Amino acid sequence: MYGSCVHVACIMDGNGRWARQRGLPRTAGHTAGEENLAAVVRAAVRLGVDHLTVFGFSTENWVRPRQEVRHILGLHEKLFGRITELDELNVRVRWIGRPFAERSARTPRYVQRAIAKAIRDTESNTGMTLTVAFDYGSRTEIAHAAETLRRSGRPVTVESIASCLYEPELPAVDVLVRTSGETRVSNFLLWQSQGAPISFAEAAWPDYSSSDLEDAIALARRTSSSPN
Ligand code: FPP
Repeated sequence: MYGSCVHVACIMDGNGRWARQRGLPRTAGHTAGEENLAAVVRAAVRLGVDHLTVFGFSTENWVRPRQEVRHILGLHEKLFGRITELDELNVRVRWIGRPFAERSARTPRYVQRAIAKAIRDTESNTGMTLTVAFDYGSRTEIAHAAETLRRSGRPVTVESIASCLYEPELPAVDVLVRTSGETRVSNFLLWQSQGAPISFAEAAWPDYSSSDLEDAIALARRTSSSPN
């Protein structure tokens, strides 16, 4: 990884608990989470991270109360609209998730447009790549790759599956971060994070700090230099 690429992937957990502890509605926790994501992006750029991939909205999250879903979608529109800031940081935006044309996909048009615009407007940036997983599930991604191969009649191998993931260029994850004291594996980048260490942070996502991110990067560094 060092000398080549550092890829940090984040499961941004605990927005709801952060809000509850403050007597606020869950939506306030998500708003604070989006603001902290903007701060974490700045910190990641400063710390020399090459790829930051975040779990913004999962294929399972659609069952949440409609008002909460609508609020989270609005926050994605806001995040993808931070073009000036992303340009200043030389950050390139990418997205992974169920392709919009698929029958099971649920991303509303206005979010599709915000995603497409952010990708287009930042594509010439050459610094960190921020990949947002929206309407994303790792199992669905792997099943999609398998189905693509079945249709094309290509042999199913580790390499051919990897080439049919949503974003085949996404490098292997060097460290997977999960916040808010949760120590579970999630349906996030299961293929790409094989062998990666997991950095469990006690902080809820709105409080995840640049020093927490430094800890995660240090864990990635220790793991990459240790013999198998
Ligand atoms: C987990 O909190 C977070 C999510 C469900 C994803 C939404 C994330 C954000 C709004 C942060 C900003 C990100 C983007 C890409 C706009 P939770 O609701 O599961 O918290 P809880 O476990 O405490 O209930």
